[in-house]
Amino acid sequence: MVPIGTTKRLILCPLELADAERIQELFPVWKVVQYLAKGAVPWPYPPDGALTYCRDIALPAAERGEAWHFTLRLRTNPAQLIGLITLELGDEHNRGFWLGVPWRGQGLMSEACDWATDYWFETLRFPILRTSKAIANTASRRISLKQGMRVVANVERGYVCGRLPGEQWEITAEEWRAWKAFHPVREYAR
Ligand SMILES: CC(C)(COP(=O)(O)OP(=O)(O)OC[C@H]1O[C@@H](n2cnc3c(N)ncnc32)[C@H](O)[C@@H]1OP(=O)(O)O)[C@@H](O)C(=O)NCCC(=O)NCCS
Repeated sequence: MVPIGTTKRLILCPLELADAERIQELFPVWKVVQYLAKGAVPWPYPPDGALTYCRDIALPAAERGEAWHFTLRLRTNPAQLIGLITLELGDEHNRGFWLGVPWRGQGLMSEACDWATDYWFETLRFPILRTSKAIANTASRRISLKQGMRVVANVERGYVCGRLPGEQWEITAEEWRAWKAFHPVREYAR
């Protein structure tokens, strides 16, 4: 049973098939996809890209207990999906996210990531969280850096925009708990 999460400004709801229509409106723009992994995102994005993703990939993985997808909504407008954050099993990449362009730069994904990372460690009880990202993806790097994650490897990878230098980041459950203890002002409300 996947819960609904809350932070100071956001509600995080388990992904549903009905969300595909709104994802199709917000997701297929260059500013969202350019640094996402090539292969994971078809580009150009087909008209049924979000439906195919939700119906055939994301929701089946959630049902198998291999992924946890949360749509992001502002508390002030809970009916409107503005982004997505995904937690998933895997050796190299356990957390992915995107936010619709109009809502960027307000600290919203930092807030969502605090909640999702806490869920990964404290509810799902995994011992380590790993992510990979392009070095050029400054906003995403800042989120990992601010959360106390460490770079453990440099790896060139294919992104939607082409091959780029990338980094592998990680944080252990112990490091996350230590980080939380020193960052009491951050929001973990459930
Ligand atoms: C990554 C993303 C989710 C960030 O969302 P956001 O809500 O704008 O992020 P925040 O406002 O929480 O900002 C996070 C940090 O990045 C910085 N930042 C945000 N946008 C930035 C930009 N365009 N350029 C440089 N830094 C940026 C912020 O200043 C903040 O750092 P700070 O706290 O040190 O000031 C959003 O840019 C996005 O959807 N990108 C496309 C999808 C993607 O690349 N996902 C990650 C794949 S690894």
